[in-house]
Amino acid sequence: MASRSLAEAAVPGGASGFSFSAAAGPLPDEVAADVAAACRPGRASILSLPFTSPAFRRLQEETEACLRRLLDIPDRFRVLFLAGGASAQFALLPLNLLGTACRASYVDSGCWSRRAIAEARRYAEVSIAARALAAIPDAAEWQVDPGAAYCHVTSNETADGLQFRDFPALPVPLVADMTSDLLTRPLDFTRLSLVYAGTQKTVGTPGLTLVIVDEHLLGRARPETPRVMDYGAQAGADSRLCTPPVFPIFVAHHMLQWIEAHGGVSAMADAARRRSDAAYAALAEGEGTYAISVDSAHRSHINPCFRLADEARTALFLNAADAAGLHDLRGHPEVGGVRVSLYNGVADAAVDALVDFLRAFARRGSGPCAA
Ligand SMILES: Cc1ncc(COP(=O)(O)O)c(C=O)c1O
Repeated sequence: MASRSLAEAAVPGGASGFSFSAAAGPLPDEVAADVAAACRPGRASILSLPFTSPAFRRLQEETEACLRRLLDIPDRFRVLFLAGGASAQFALLPLNLLGTACRASYVDSGCWSRRAIAEARRYAEVSIAARALAAIPDAAEWQVDPGAAYCHVTSNETADGLQFRDFPALPVPLVADMTSDLLTRPLDFTRLSLVYAGTQKTVGTPGLTLVIVDEHLLGRARPETPRVMDYGAQAGADSRLCTPPVFPIFVAHHMLQWIEAHGGVSAMADAARRRSDAAYAALAEGEGTYAISVDSAHRSHINPCFRLADEARTALFLNAADAAGLHDLRGHPEVGGVRVSLYNGVADAAVDALVDFLRAFARRGSGPCAA
């Protein structure tokens, strides 16, 4: 009972209403129910499934097979199931990919790419291939260092609301941080050499990081790379060089099956497009109340970000949204403003409620707004 009240107290606004949190996506109700059922006490609980058991191996194989079907991943790519979060990859990428080179190119597109760049600078000479702030420059204008071991992009800037629609063909391997948009759209693996993502937003729950890597990039890790962080070593051990994150893999398996049963990544892309279009349309109608800095061609379908035209009204907006049951809309602390997160598990009803609220708040103009 104590832990139940702790969990309820931990949810701002209580368990009712809808969360638009950027940090973690909600699980669809049926996925959450299946996961909860598998946590039952006893020997068969998923919470104590040994990673050495045949049952776990089957789970991992099925999870990988489902991921491969959904994203049409070519055979030459390996799928790694790692712990440590996407931020750990910021360091592991240079450690694993630089080889004898010491240079890497990065696209600076906002908050998360800058964190990746800062970490990479501890290991590599980093050059900025392009700056993509309110808009993404055409790839023909990028200045990718031809001697770079790789070029890194953040496919969806979670904090800034800017998203790459597609990926260019580059003279060096292209690496994408897809932590906030993996499995929200089809991918072209003829353009990408490595994709990584923490699974907490679009693929399940925190604790698992997926790395999908062209095997040509394996075997280049620097000697000082911790062995459990060496992509090649983990690929050779089927990601079981140490205990893998069993429970998040189980949740990802259920989420992947849910995505497949609901039309796959094309259907997720259509839903993201439809839902973000509805949010952006309501924001455009409320011009004068809301302002968006990202160019319309590059606005995120997953994390629409905006500001109140009168920034002093941001707290009023957020409080009114909370009171209306629309939670976790505050922008990233480094960016401010308001951020809507439309991950795969967000219900259409949540988006409808948000759109109604955006319209109602704008109609109230500068007058008092209690709800
Ligand atoms: C695009 C992007 N990259 C990386 C991260 C960091 O993920 P983690 O907290 O799993 O390290 C986040 C988290 O929000 C993110 O949105």
